[in-house]
Amino acid sequence: MAAEAAAALVKDGQIVGLGTGSTAEFAVKAIAARVQAGLKIQGIPTSDSTAKMATALGISLIDINSVDTIDITIDGADEFTSRLELIKGGGGALLKEKIVASKTAQEIIIADSSKHVELLGQFKLPVEVIPFASRYVLQQVARLGGNGVIRQHKGETFITEEGNVIVDVDFKQITDPKGLSEALNGIVGVVEHGLFVGLAQQVMMGQGTEVKVFR
Ligand code: A5P
Repeated sequence: MAAEAAAALVKDGQIVGLGTGSTAEFAVKAIAARVQAGLKIQGIPTSDSTAKMATALGISLIDINSVDTIDITIDGADEFTSRLELIKGGGGALLKEKIVASKTAQEIIIADSSKHVELLGQFKLPVEVIPFASRYVLQQVARLGGNGVIRQHKGETFITEEGNVIVDVDFKQITDPKGLSEALNGIVGVVEHGLFVGLAQQVMMGQGTEVKVFR
């Protein structure tokens, strides 16, 4: 429901950022249904899997570096607060998601109510790291109070689309997302992290039979 409400905001002629994850997939399908009904848009995917899905559904894609701004992006989140702070990157696509969000005029997050939290941090914060720096970054996040582990997938180290590793960091409760965001960005070897602060304009939360909007 949140995905369909968000997809209804997309207008003819827009450049549309396409999120990644199981929730964002609903939005890609809802946008594709509108495209099949005649809506003209160009999509910018936040991952190879979204690119593949969008193309299969008939959404035409455009290179992100051929545009200055993205009109609207619809993406999911792993956690969000009423202050529109987010944790993203559970699926490992946080780097492209943050680049797309940073270029986007209207960043819409869609989620179910299980993702709504008072304080971020129950979900471990994904941090994308240059492999050469992984041990150093683990030490540095420990100094910030976080307990990090290098993400594994099917018994092997998870590698992102950009060839990096993800360190999932348990910070327990993140009381100062902006301060933590800046501290993490100051660690050599950190490429990006999944704290999104000041990037979302709205969160559309599906709950029961309603969509609740946080602005
Ligand atoms: C992908 O890297 C993530 O940022 C997703 O947007 C986030 O993990 C939400 O995914 P789900 O909708 O599958 O929970």
